[in-house]
Amino acid sequence: MDLRKATLSFGRVNCIDGSKITTKSALSKNVDVVTLHAEAGSFVNYGGFHGDITCTKIVSRLRAAGCVFAEDEARLLLSAERTPADLAAMVDSRAAGLPLEHVIGWAEFCGLRIAVDPGVFIPRQRTKFLVRQAADIARPGAIVVDLCCGSGAVGAVLAAVLERIELHATDIDPAAVLCARRNVTVAGGYVYEGDLYEPLPSTLRGHVDVLVANAPYVPTEAIGLLPPEARIHEARVALDGGADGLDVQRRVANAAPLWLAPGGSLLVETSERQAPKTVEIFTRNGLVPKVARFDELDATVVIGTKPDLPCNSDC
Ligand SMILES: C[S@@+](CC[C@H](N)C(=O)[O-])C[C@H]1O[C@@H](n2cnc3c(N)ncnc32)[C@H](O)[C@@H]1O
Repeated sequence: MDLRKATLSFGRVNCIDGSKITTKSALSKNVDVVTLHAEAGSFVNYGGFHGDITCTKIVSRLRAAGCVFAEDEARLLLSAERTPADLAAMVDSRAAGLPLEHVIGWAEFCGLRIAVDPGVFIPRQRTKFLVRQAADIARPGAIVVDLCCGSGAVGAVLAAVLERIELHATDIDPAAVLCARRNVTVAGGYVYEGDLYEPLPSTLRGHVDVLVANAPYVPTEAIGLLPPEARIHEARVALDGGADGLDVQRRVANAAPLWLAPGGSLLVETSERQAPKTVEIFTRNGLVPKVARFDELDATVVIGTKPDLPCNSDC
């Protein structure tokens, strides 16, 4: 495939010559869909001159405010503006430290444009690895639950790359739920507001094939060390995982066997340092654990599988 001639439309890479590869095949080939996108050079319709604010002026302003990728950011701001006044306000907000994604209202994740409102957790690039692991496990028609869904990024990508999944997502933060509804319901999924499993339909008990949870896992003491964009502009509930960072994971793993189908899997993102403890938690709850690691993204995922039903003599 000639990447320079490719365009990406919602979850699918289309080649000019008509041949197609899906996002799923891109993920499984370890190809970064976002890279494909960037290389195709077709992601954003960049602007150039708007009113009296030139791209050069915006770049200088952003650079002075400490933005490392000032040129890229300026192009994104120009492409997002509706009026010159809008653009000026966006540049002001960005220069004052609001994360770019909150300023323009969306984040790029696995080739999808995910709506993110101020305060809502911005999907991290390392979470692509969680998506990849879940996509490898899920079969067509699988029931997938995205707990602690935030903007709904993980579930939205899974719905885009997998065939006919039944997707349910929950989050405790009303602002996140509003975003997730925008990102997930277009993909045919359902979003509920509430504490972990509590708002899910009870009919899902014992039937969930893939349970993904990028729950907060920063230890409370380490919150102060996070970059200001996270510490100040993302909700505390999205980050704080309690004393050792694993409080929410513990609750997720504790109830997982009740919701998983036999042979179903729970996948959680964690840190390399925390992974041995996460493994312990999974084991204690009867899940058979496995650790997956991708150094390039500094990404660690622990996968716990609920044992299949015991075989009877007819097996
Ligand atoms: C680290 S963010 C991850 C968001 C999303 N999964 C992603 O990867 O972009 C954690 C999310 O968990 C949510 N959360 C925290 N505690 C929760 C709970 N008890 N029940 C449901 N959601 C919770 C937060 O509101 C936040 O949106």
